[in-house]
Amino acid sequence: MRILGLSNMRDAAAALVDNGQIVAAAEEERFVRIKHVTALPLQAVRFCLQTAGISLEDVDAIAVPWKYWRLGRRAALAVGSMLRSPRLFTVKGTRSVERLTGEWKELAFLRTYLSRRVDGTRCPPVVFLDHHLCHAASAMLVSPFEQAAVMVVDGASEAHTTMLARADRHQIRVLTRVALPHSLGQFYAGITSYLGFKPDHDEYIVMGLAACGAPSFAQALREQVLRTLPDGEFRLNTRLLDFHLARRRIFSAEFVRLFGPPRRPDEDITPRHHDIAASAQSVLEDTLLHLARHLRRMTNDQRLCVAGGVAYNCVANSRLLKDAGFGELFVPPAAGDSGAALGAALWLAKRRGGLASPTVMRTASWGPQFSEAVCRAALEEAGLDVQWLDDALLCEQVAGELAAGRLVFWFQGRMEWGPRALGNRSLLADPRREDMRALINLKVKFRQPFRPFAPSVLAERASEYFDLTGSSPFMVRTAPVQSSVKGVIPAVVHVDGTARVQTVDRDSNPRYRLLLEAFARRTGVPVLLNTSFNVNEPIVCTPREAVACFLRTDVEWLAMENLLARRRSMPSGG
Ligand SMILES: [Fe+2]
Repeated sequence: MRILGLSNMRDAAAALVDNGQIVAAAEEERFVRIKHVTALPLQAVRFCLQTAGISLEDVDAIAVPWKYWRLGRRAALAVGSMLRSPRLFTVKGTRSVERLTGEWKELAFLRTYLSRRVDGTRCPPVVFLDHHLCHAASAMLVSPFEQAAVMVVDGASEAHTTMLARADRHQIRVLTRVALPHSLGQFYAGITSYLGFKPDHDEYIVMGLAACGAPSFAQALREQVLRTLPDGEFRLNTRLLDFHLARRRIFSAEFVRLFGPPRRPDEDITPRHHDIAASAQSVLEDTLLHLARHLRRMTNDQRLCVAGGVAYNCVANSRLLKDAGFGELFVPPAAGDSGAALGAALWLAKRRGGLASPTVMRTASWGPQFSEAVCRAALEEAGLDVQWLDDALLCEQVAGELAAGRLVFWFQGRMEWGPRALGNRSLLADPRREDMRALINLKVKFRQPFRPFAPSVLAERASEYFDLTGSSPFMVRTAPVQSSVKGVIPAVVHVDGTARVQTVDRDSNPRYRLLLEAFARRTGVPVLLNTSFNVNEPIVCTPREAVACFLRTDVEWLAMENLLARRRSMPSGG
């Protein structure tokens, strides 16, 4: 049984499940090169079908993680907000309603659109599924758990923002939901906008900034903006923060009166901004804990699955694991709306009896892969000198270059599913050098200096470096760095003494694992700084994009499969 899941809203994506096994999954942004793109994911669909070697007509059903006709309430709220505040009746606001109706039209005529635009073959029937159930399935059905409590928290589904459930591998029993407009995702998006960043886009920047400040505004935010109520409920004061207010200025004049002027995007970041970020993060964490503890009381489960866009907040995930009373936590690599496309496919497969054997997601390598010949052609087309090395030699040489302080783009195997580079489309560096962050910012990233870089570590040695319970293959939570090694890997320790860790086990990514081992042999440190292979764009997908990105930077080396290319302008001997 083949089920193709797809979502055409924000973070558009497609995923193919065949007889219960994940065959392929990718976000459309990687193909069309627009971050978080909202679009019918035609290229992602084509990629999934090509990977399986099938046509659209060979698929048994299309699963969509939205009951789109129920989205009317969201549009009504948006129009209502604009009518109440005519000054917010902006062109942008009107467009967001128009865009929503455009997305519905695509879904209403999905079979026709897909059939015409994918490969001309007949499109199978489409099944529209509850958005939050798909998020829940995206975590529970690939988790290592037989049974778990499930928490879904995002900006908004068809009509809700939060769902608490209890699930096993056969069913998801919804316990409670929080209805619009009370949304934790939109609370954080509102703060993101207030701090001069792009809402629904730059929340991770606010999370990084939070570690630099003190939560001096947290009490005021709790009293005025986001209140918790008994039984796992919470209320967002939409007179102060309301994402339906046309997405442009989603905080009101009253919010500004209470918390001071908003930061303009080009303005310097001050200690007050640090404190606002720290306060919002603290209030978000407290509210999530409030929900999780209620869920724990209701279910008595030891295991927790979390999904929805808010599950990208890796700092909050760690707090949940530490303080909510659960012993284990699973968050999928694509926790947001792209993940819901895979969740939809899995959930429909489950409902139709197509998930006979349990699937546990141990890797995020579900995207496109390119042959060595295609990689070589891209490198030679750019006039780069290319060396072929077997795995052992490649890893030895790259480890040596890294240990000597040079940077390496690392392009291997299938592109990662979800927003994190996990050793397939990565930029790697030596975490031991204090100045490495500055060096990367200088040579590649040009990003805010407070933003942390993350470490990859050999799984079996993770506890020497990080205070981490269990494994963390998808970089979805942070862990305190052991105080004895903070000075050993300064480039990956955030200002609050934590790191967003990726543990690399023996099976999930063999070549990356070999590289970590080679680096450990050479330096004694089984840790690499791992950031994404991109510069102000979606993570690279193809070899050509990789080479183009490499040439735009001052990074010294590019490794693609077994091929190693060096920057042309590098003096000999490095
Ligand atoms: Fe969602």
